[in-house]
Amino acid sequence: MNNVRVGIIGMGNMGKHHAEYLLAGKVNRCELTAVCSTSPHKLESYKQKGVKIFSDGEEMIRSNEVDAVLIATPHYQHTSLGIAALKAGKHVMVEKPISAHKADAERLIAVSKEHPKLVFGAMFQLRTENRYVKIKKLITDGSLGEIVRFSWIVTDWFRTEAYYASGGWRATWRGEGGGVLINQCLHQLDMLQWLLGMPSKVRSFVQLGRFHNIEVEDQVTAYLEFPNNATGVFTASTGEAPGTNRFEIAGTMGKLVLENDKLSFTRNEVSMVEQSKTAKLGFQKPEVWNVDVPITTVPAQHATLMQNFVDAILDGAQLISPAEEGIHSIELANVMLYSGLIDQTVQMPMDSAAYECKLKQLIAESKIEKKVVEISSEDFTKSFTR
Ligand SMILES: NC(=O)c1ccc[n+]([C@@H]2O[C@H](COP(=O)([O-])OP(=O)(O)OC[C@H]3O[C@@H](n4cnc5c(N)ncnc54)[C@H](O)[C@@H]3O)[C@@H](O)[C@H]2O)c1
Repeated sequence: MNNVRVGIIGMGNMGKHHAEYLLAGKVNRCELTAVCSTSPHKLESYKQKGVKIFSDGEEMIRSNEVDAVLIATPHYQHTSLGIAALKAGKHVMVEKPISAHKADAERLIAVSKEHPKLVFGAMFQLRTENRYVKIKKLITDGSLGEIVRFSWIVTDWFRTEAYYASGGWRATWRGEGGGVLINQCLHQLDMLQWLLGMPSKVRSFVQLGRFHNIEVEDQVTAYLEFPNNATGVFTASTGEAPGTNRFEIAGTMGKLVLENDKLSFTRNEVSMVEQSKTAKLGFQKPEVWNVDVPITTVPAQHATLMQNFVDAILDGAQLISPAEEGIHSIELANVMLYSGLIDQTVQMPMDSAAYECKLKQLIAESKIEKKVVEISSEDFTKSFTR
């Protein structure tokens, strides 16, 4: 194979964005050959460009039009369509989250393991962003020392009632499986586990529909503890404006702060553990160097991950964002919600069956009735905040 034929399932905001850069030739050795929507009448413009259109994702998967599918539907369909595609021998790139909850992610990953030759990627584009790549390097090369604490305030995901009304699946237990954690913050949760690993326990406090007429969480504060006793606080909201995005990581060798397109590293000359043990005076902190870490501020490109996906299929390139790793961000989103709902600390790994049971109960008890109102002509790419 010299060229990968890709089909997109789900042609809403995100599916259309993927189609746009693929049709513009931004991904080498890749051709958009098919698109699928449950409302195929909206796809006439693609038909005119020679792209096959489908009304049923499984029909596209069974067709001979595609080597790979990009799944950009609401969350619950990621699992069923992902499993169908892998079983049909298609490579899969799945939008985040890879599934709506951890038990579904386990099902999807189990099927992918039965098809090790198929490339299975997930759309976590922040992994390509220079700022996070730099932080990862400073952690893994030991510059920051042992991690002792983090704090991430992510309250700049402001959303309006019009946003929530724009899709019947949005902000419902049945359609989305959660709110700010599983949707907006999933990118940050992926970064959290990518940079710091998984916690050993989580205690959180969630507010359901605090700022909006929705049944799921739109404000969360979670406390996390890690196997090495490092601690952290994660705060998220879609109801704050202007909001904050400030990520602070403290290690024995200093402190990193990422905020407002600036990454600063206050670097200890000696480890704070050594200073604490050896200093003769009571309050003497280590001497520090203040370093502005140079970062490029170009937002992550979805096309970069798609190029990597195509290179993995054609050349065996290593995936930047393997879909199996997507289970960690889901588990974090689920546990932060679950702990708040049951008002208890939850030990990790979280019991996926217990969480699924809770989610089914929320779905069964849901009383929400949504009226869908389409938003006209808004630049969707403005929602790709960092
Ligand atoms: N990576 C990112 O930066 C990013 C940004 C936004 C959204 N997303 C993700 O993309 C996915 C879609 O989000 P969106 O904002 O585009 O939603 P959306 O509501 O705008 O679009 C979803 C589309 O899927 C279609 N659909 C539903 N079920 C289908 C099925 N079984 N077969 C085919 N089509 C089906 C709907 O008709 C709709 O057009 C979500 O998983 C979301 O989390 C990712």
